Amino acid sequence: MTAEIPEEIKKRVEELRAELRQHEYHYYVEDNPQIADAEYDEMMEELRKLEEDYPQLKDPNSPTARVGGEVLDKFAKVQHTQEMLSLGNAFSPADLRNFAARLQRMLSEEVDFDYIVEHKIDGLAIILKYEAGELTLGATRGDGQTGEDVTANVKTIPTVPLKLKKPVDIEIRGEAFMPRQSFQKLNEERLKKGEEPFANPRNAAAGSLRQLDPTVAAKRPLSFLAYDIINEESLTLREHAESLEKLAELGFKVNWHRPVDNIDRVIELCEEWVDRQQQLNYEIDGMVVKVNQLAVREKLGATSKSPRWAIAYKFPAQQKTTEVKDIKISLGRTGALTPTAELAPVEIDGSTVSRATLHNEDEIRRKDVRIGDKVLIQKAGDIIPEVVKVIKEARTGQEKQFEFPENCPACGEKVFRDPEEAVYRCINSACPAVVRESIIHFVSRDAMNIAGVGPALIDRLLEQNLIEDQADLYFLEKEDLIELERMAEKSAANVLEAIAESKSRPLTRVVFALGIRHVGLRTAQIIVDKFGTLSQLKEANQAELEEIEEVGPVIAQSITNYFSSSENLNLLEKLKRAGVTMESEKSEEQNILADKKFVLTGRLENYTRQEAKAEIAKLGGRVTGSVSGETDYLVQGENPGSKLQQAQEREVQILTEEDFIKLITEED
Ligand code: IVH
Repeated sequence: MTAEIPEEIKKRVEELRAELRQHEYHYYVEDNPQIADAEYDEMMEELRKLEEDYPQLKDPNSPTARVGGEVLDKFAKVQHTQEMLSLGNAFSPADLRNFAARLQRMLSEEVDFDYIVEHKIDGLAIILKYEAGELTLGATRGDGQTGEDVTANVKTIPTVPLKLKKPVDIEIRGEAFMPRQSFQKLNEERLKKGEEPFANPRNAAAGSLRQLDPTVAAKRPLSFLAYDIINEESLTLREHAESLEKLAELGFKVNWHRPVDNIDRVIELCEEWVDRQQQLNYEIDGMVVKVNQLAVREKLGATSKSPRWAIAYKFPAQQKTTEVKDIKISLGRTGALTPTAELAPVEIDGSTVSRATLHNEDEIRRKDVRIGDKVLIQKAGDIIPEVVKVIKEARTGQEKQFEFPENCPACGEKVFRDPEEAVYRCINSACPAVVRESIIHFVSRDAMNIAGVGPALIDRLLEQNLIEDQADLYFLEKEDLIELERMAEKSAANVLEAIAESKSRPLTRVVFALGIRHVGLRTAQIIVDKFGTLSQLKEANQAELEEIEEVGPVIAQSITNYFSSSENLNLLEKLKRAGVTMESEKSEEQNILADKKFVLTGRLENYTRQEAKAEIAKLGGRVTGSVSGETDYLVQGENPGSKLQQAQEREVQILTEEDFIKLITEED
């Protein structure tokens, strides 16, 4: 039965496919959705229905084809048109310099070339073939010559276009990978079902792509970043940079890349990303450095294993195995009890790690960490080291399960588990550990900024009963400090001066310094703007607070809780007696960055130069053109200039864009 299909149905199907494709692109490739999920689902449902009613209209690359096709019993083998080589490795700046020197040697003097530096994504290389713009094949690398046809699984990856924006015949390569969040979620689900978790996102991605049942693959959210064009007859590409541009034009999400014209800058970029890799929502295990000019690549050629025109700079290993000697609890200023694994010390990336956070009780249970366990730990940049997993095969039976304490290890009071959080808290505001952390917060840079008063001095002052709380700092006398061992008269005077000077910090900073839960600098500023004085703020009720835009019920509750405690009210009285700012001066309202001098370098992702300047000015800070002894912060964007080095030399505090955003907006 081949009933004629009405024209308007055909038209509608084409229309829906085109629109869905476009929205898929906005959503997955551009990260910029243009319609609500529900509207998208509705269109998808309409298309599915029509394809069901008119099976003659079926199309293997219709947007409906992503949910997963038929179950296979094995994957077909695919012969690659061009062998997929691997990359040589560099492990140090010296290796990179050798690579550059080798290139120079092999090329004659006159040959001019530059580099493209890319992320080395820790996933699986995938080859995609398109005919007249339609996806016809997705294959794995295999042994480099023969791979496996995983087209059905590849189609479930939303960032793989099923139809390109132009009807070209083309073969491209890129990396399929599992974003960190999806990986975490997948592992949590596997644990719940009693299945073994995947060791890393790469294994998880490989496992998903090698699923014989594409509907299973479809439930494992993978992503894809393109990094090369292999075959495209009609194109006359001269540079790798052009290939990457072309890939973007065709509708691919393209791997991060930067053009660079000298090896020093290549090295700088590689090292920069060692520290920045955690900012990405997927894992990279290094950087790939490629010669940009295709003709130069041609000249350089390849060995049997790898091209001579590219090299992988591998990041230092960030995971090691070690033993959990003990599990201890530490307390934060909000009274939160955080379990920490004490480890047999191991060196990771040049620093010794002897502690790793276990986050909370649920996390210990989930990972089943016991005292005496061998564990895999991970550290990256300035991230707190954490336990990735327990090596259960190494268990001897001697391991001891950790019992979360019912009482605060610092003050002995009963601890409470917040029903909405996984966190236990000590709610004793006189708890010595909470007091200590609160004072450390009070003096910190973004709070009262009292130079010279750090954790070590605070500990000594507490031990000697010279202070009991933040406010006592203002009543210290020179003799008190001199009596403390190692404190000379001059430094005692400096400390007292710094303390006295902090009395005139703007009210916003005072409010932030109190350490009210959920009240970061920005919230402090908003509520100070609204209420003007501490006594007004103290009187504010839940409803009045919630009226303020940006203050929700949780923050409002936290603020009223704070001011309902008599200890806190006493503290405020004492601060007032000490002469600490209790009212905002009109002009000081927005001044959380008062008198701070900023220098900007490199491109910021979230602000133009003008916007960043305006933000800083709005908060009372100033932007200057060059680094000097007066500079407080250097904000470092992408491709920073020489100012970065100048700032490093002068030991100016360097902020990444993320740090900067935190500084101006962060809420605790
Ligand atoms: S280019 C001949 N670029 O690294 C060179 N590879 O050892 C072909 N990889 O199997 C690869 N990110 O899975 C290239 N930006 C990138 C990459 C990348 C990750 C992987 C790829 C390949 C392996 C090479």
